[in-house]
Amino acid sequence: MSLLDDARDVRENAYAPYSNFAVGAAIKTAQGTVFKGINVENVAYPEGTCAEAGAIAAMCAVGEREIVEIAVIADAPAPVPPCGGCRQKIAEFAGADVVVTMGTMDGQTLTMTVAELLPGRFTADHMAKS
Ligand code: THU
Repeated sequence: MSLLDDARDVRENAYAPYSNFAVGAAIKTAQGTVFKGINVENVAYPEGTCAEAGAIAAMCAVGEREIVEIAVIADAPAPVPPCGGCRQKIAEFAGADVVVTMGTMDGQTLTMTVAELLPGRFTADHMAKS
């Protein structure tokens, strides 16, 4: 089972009554664990929280911190890239060369690295003067 399969499976549980755009995400960690996430919307903030953020929160909740692979899937005409906020969240826990696989329900895929998705990203180095 690929990580994209995990993302496809968990997408079934997405809660997206406002956008009707269900997203599933799965991340694999350095320990080999797979964490899954979905988007969860609410009436006050209809954009809700992204699937990638949900998977990252699940990973952090058990104390894991290192992403080695990510997959995200939606029923879209083309593979959906993580939003800007999620790119920064991913970059917090994934190295520059980590592969992000984006998929559609009809089988299209696109792979990009974290560095390609977020060039010039803000890192802790930018806070170090000297
Ligand atoms: N969404 C995600 O979960 N991940 C993405 O990468 C893009 C957008 C969700 C947020 C919202 O629930 C819906 O898709 C429409 O923006």
